[in-house]
Amino acid sequence: MQEYSRCLRRQGKRIGLVPTMGYLHEGHLSLVRRSVRENDKTVVSVFVNPMQFGPREDFKKYPRAFKRDEEMLRRSGVDVLFYPSSKAVYPEPYYTTVNVEYLTEPLCDRSRPGHFRGVTTVVAKLFNITTPDSAYFGRKDAQQAAVIKKMAVDLNMGIKIVTMPIVREKGGLAMSSRNAYLSEEERRDAAVLYEALALAKGMIKKGRRSSGEIKDAMRGLIRKKKTAKIDYIEIVNEDTFKNISRPTGKVLIALAVYIGRTRLIDNIRLKAGYYQ
Ligand code: PAJ
Repeated sequence: MQEYSRCLRRQGKRIGLVPTMGYLHEGHLSLVRRSVRENDKTVVSVFVNPMQFGPREDFKKYPRAFKRDEEMLRRSGVDVLFYPSSKAVYPEPYYTTVNVEYLTEPLCDRSRPGHFRGVTTVVAKLFNITTPDSAYFGRKDAQQAAVIKKMAVDLNMGIKIVTMPIVREKGGLAMSSRNAYLSEEERRDAAVLYEALALAKGMIKKGRRSSGEIKDAMRGLIRKKKTAKIDYIEIVNEDTFKNISRPTGKVLIALAVYIGRTRLIDNIRLKAGYYQ
């Protein structure tokens, strides 16, 4: 892969990279289509990265469907499907990690310690192997995208990080490979993540400005669902991910909720102009 990327660069080709863990859906494909549009060659990586899963998390049972993914990518005009083995990515013994400070501390890292270190380490590797001009990430994982942007700037990687909006199912549920774990009842309950975000947005539109009050209302709504258990609900500044007590400016409302045993995340952004 690395040799092929070097060869493309010598020919002056623009390379776009879409890193994924496979079990592809429309969210992934929105990134793929943008990359195909903007580059001469698009590389999609499919690698379920062991380093970003905690010891009690779902690495082993994470859904995998390589043939299906391959077919979807073929139809989307992707040039290269990069599908490395764990051994190739993490030669034994393995000693090196990449870590972004501060931005990784709030939200997801509290319940998944070390998660972002695993993400930035593997993404740095994928960048070194595929030498992209641009790399594409979804805002469903808003904190992940921000952390990767910071890594690229701080380490002078010279790679443009492009982010794309969240692709949702009809009922509002954000598409995710992990939705495959949900039973029928759980899938119905899972719509509450988006409903809670929409409720928050509506309250702010009506002039409510207390993060505490808004989060309480969201909690109340989510608790009505039998299978739901809140991991976190936060109202934060979109750039720093720091909590804000009164939403104004660029705000991100983010949550993580267990539906049964499946942990789902979602968020919405409010632009600075939203409050007028
Ligand atoms: P994965 O969960 O497979 O997601 C791959 C990319 O697709 C991420 O950038 C993610 O934000 C984006 N994505 C997922 N669901 C989306 C949706 N509903 N709408 C828009 N974009 C969506 O995120 C990872 O893999 C891994 O952490 C990875 C970056 C590949 C590193 O291992």
